[in-house]
Amino acid sequence: MTTALITGSTAGIGAAFARRLAADGHNLVLVARNTARLGEQATELHDRHGIEAEVLTADLATDKGIDTVAARLADRKNPVDLLVNNAGFGNKGRYLDVSMADELKMLKVHCEAVLRLTSAATEAMRERGRGGVVNVASVAAFVPRGTYGASKAWVVQFTQGAAKDLAGTGVRLMALAPGFVRTEFHERAGMGTDNIPNWMWLDADKLVAAALADLARGKSLSIPDPRYKALMGLVKITPQAVLGGITSKTGRKYGPQ
Ligand SMILES: NC(=O)c1ccc[n+]([C@@H]2O[C@H](COP(=O)([O-])OP(=O)(O)OC[C@H]3O[C@@H](n4cnc5c(N)ncnc54)[C@H](OP(=O)(O)O)[C@@H]3O)[C@@H](O)[C@H]2O)c1
Repeated sequence: MTTALITGSTAGIGAAFARRLAADGHNLVLVARNTARLGEQATELHDRHGIEAEVLTADLATDKGIDTVAARLADRKNPVDLLVNNAGFGNKGRYLDVSMADELKMLKVHCEAVLRLTSAATEAMRERGRGGVVNVASVAAFVPRGTYGASKAWVVQFTQGAAKDLAGTGVRLMALAPGFVRTEFHERAGMGTDNIPNWMWLDADKLVAAALADLARGKSLSIPDPRYKALMGLVKITPQAVLGGITSKTGRKYGPQ
């Protein structure tokens, strides 16, 4: 039996990874800040699928939280075969409306934690000659969209670069770039979603199925769903100035839902 560690496992995309991997028979290490919610999730997945689910309470915006998860990933006696770096969040407000503390927190969770956890996991995986890492980015990585888009652009570039450096070692890395997914993300960030058209919303379970299929195919970047593949094709040929005008408005309506 293999083991997968998922950060941000208790809601949204992370919870969809947990459901799917448990259904496929993988043991899980579930990571988030809310211990009670982690415990309920572990019990439910164990009871439904007969897998072992450990819980690790960790705030990935802190050194202590990152150290805790990195130590679990480096544990040679209890190897982790698949790491899903998924924990993340949005900040309410545009550039300069967001406090510097919140901007830095985002870089800590989206970049520093992803770097340190990927490194802890892949060092151990390289020794064993096998393993996989999925780093959850966003299609915002490809458009000008504040610190959020910039941090996700880092995730894509870092992951694809590391995938090349580790080619031939048996360790696979893939950046996952979803479009809009109905999760707790927008509500937590205080973002209204009524200006996002229905056709732009993706289902978390279908997204995860497509991502895992792309990982199995050896892709280093997964943009699930034909709608977003087509949109990202358009993004490549759209001038940056026009793109910035469109993307700074879409899905950034702050305030009551
Ligand atoms: N939803 C979208 O439209 C969308 C689109 C593209 C990319 N993404 C990316 O997908 C990932 C997952 O987002 P989601 O939409 O599934 O969000 P979500 O529903 O809000 O879930 C976020 C998860 O991350 C955990 N988390 C948040 N901050 C954390 C921290 N500091 N330390 C540890 N765990 C933390 C939360 O649990 P606790 O609160 O208990 O810690 C929760 O389990 C993020 O990286 C996001 O940027 C989302």
